[in-house]
Amino acid sequence: MTAGLLPVRRVSFEYPDDTDPLWVHHMPEFAAACNAISLGMPYAEPLFIKAVRSTFDRIDPELRARTETYIKQETGHYTQHKKFNAIVSAHYPSTLRVQRWMERYTRRIERGSKRFLVAYAAGGETISYGVARWTDANVARLMDRAEPVPATLYLWHLAEEIEHKSNTFDVFEAVDGSRLMYAWALTVGFLGIVFFTAVATLLQLGRRLWNPLTWFRLLRLAVSLAFVLVPTMVVSALPGHHPRQFTDPVYLPQWLRQYDPETGTMPVWRTRLPDAA
Ligand SMILES: [Fe+2]
Ligand SMILES: [Fe+2]
Repeated sequence: MTAGLLPVRRVSFEYPDDTDPLWVHHMPEFAAACNAISLGMPYAEPLFIKAVRSTFDRIDPELRARTETYIKQETGHYTQHKKFNAIVSAHYPSTLRVQRWMERYTRRIERGSKRFLVAYAAGGETISYGVARWTDANVARLMDRAEPVPATLYLWHLAEEIEHKSNTFDVFEAVDGSRLMYAWALTVGFLGIVFFTAVATLLQLGRRLWNPLTWFRLLRLAVSLAFVLVPTMVVSALPGHHPRQFTDPVYLPQWLRQYDPETGTMPVWRTRLPDAA
């Protein structure tokens, strides 16, 4: 294995028949937001893959080999999210329309220049890293009492996002590196995610939106995430900055080490119920 290649973990999640689509029972608003992001994965991640693949004739063999492993990680992510999205779509058919909008939006982005597309993918990875960092810092508050299988899906995905935080930026630097282009693409990507996440989240919450507590929790989540994500994005666009300079969160990378290559499984997230040891 060449130094620098990313580990490829073959995981597959099976969801119990009684999986609650709002799988974080003490904070359904958080589950709805996670689901909204999940609905976008089968559009966003293939776009990132397409972007990095378009550079294969211009990047050196070592970076290309590493990028092949990045593609394998991303393929695993959106494949597993698709399975989970089927549950979300079945419970909330109104989100199907948003998924069609996501598809159209992705086709529109795809028609941009190759330069823009690679910058867009690099920006997308910065956003993923920021979300992973925020989740890591709040993992107990967010995930304790969550249903184990969906929680494991999200935590595995976010942990691998930390692991490949630098790869797409390396590709972008190798073929372009314009900070202005990066900042523009990052802004477009961020606004797209905010819009689609907001709409798909609200559609799932339905009648809960009559409860002021729902809005309070949504606002608290959004502000808390923005405090981590916005500075991360701004710093990432400063001249001379590289994602490797971002400190890796502690918990998720450590948790990922429990992956068992023999069985291709992650230990299912253990919910710490009040009566559990
Ligand atoms: Fe991913
Ligand atoms: Fe990623």
